Amino acid sequence: MDDRNLIELIKNSSLNHIAIIMDGNGRWAQERGFERSKGHSAGMQKVIEIIEVAKKLEIKYLSLYAFSTENWKRPQIEVSTLFSILNTFIKNELNRLIQNNVRLTIMGDISKLPYSSRKAVEYAINKTKDNNGLTVNIGLNYGSRDEIAYGIRNIVSEIESGNLNQNDINETTLSKYLYTSEIPDPDLLIRTGGEKRLSNFMLYQIAYSEFDFPKIYWPDYGEEEFKSSILNFINRNRRFGGLNEK
Ligand code: FPP
Repeated sequence: MDDRNLIELIKNSSLNHIAIIMDGNGRWAQERGFERSKGHSAGMQKVIEIIEVAKKLEIKYLSLYAFSTENWKRPQIEVSTLFSILNTFIKNELNRLIQNNVRLTIMGDISKLPYSSRKAVEYAINKTKDNNGLTVNIGLNYGSRDEIAYGIRNIVSEIESGNLNQNDINETTLSKYLYTSEIPDPDLLIRTGGEKRLSNFMLYQIAYSEFDFPKIYWPDYGEEEFKSSILNFINRNRRFGGLNEK
């Protein structure tokens, strides 16, 4: 199918937001006799490719799980490699993101990031904040349970300062106090690498998302695979708990 037809299909579907758990970098590298860091660098190239494809296909939101609250448990050398890859990504790609009208947003507590990464991320957020094309939302020091605790702390402080009445709290209220307050829920969640688990990713937001678990590692996932994930989604029938056809 050519891109024009696919864009048309996407437009006629409910697909606005794709979230991706980019898993398998380490195994990809180890199976080739490389250091794990090489898998993460290859993973960064795929981030660049998938952003380009998402933009081309006129997807509105793309969320990427880059560093979880649990990833601090990895060897220190791997943690610092991941942040240096993030810094390289911003240094090399920011201009292209700006030119492509991409808005960068972050979910997670970035106050705990290494200073250089925090500064780079804040700079990129600020530089792209007025863009209104594709939103690329990156999870950094992100964990869903941590996010829900963060949301509840904010809600409690709003109640204490008299800005919110506890009887008015409903599911929409909580979603407004999460990191993703400005972003609609994902329609499609993709996890590469063959594992079928959520690993503390966007648990509140994916209540009605469709899931796709391609068996290949993230550094092997590219334009063709991304398009098949999208076509799988389009061929499904989402009912949101009701009976009606979409
Ligand atoms: C999971 O693979 C991947 C990560 C923990 C890091 C993801 C990071 C990138 C793709 C690169 C940089 C991203 C950006 C946004 C610039 P794993 O290491 O758990 O793989 P394994 O399960 O095979 O060990």
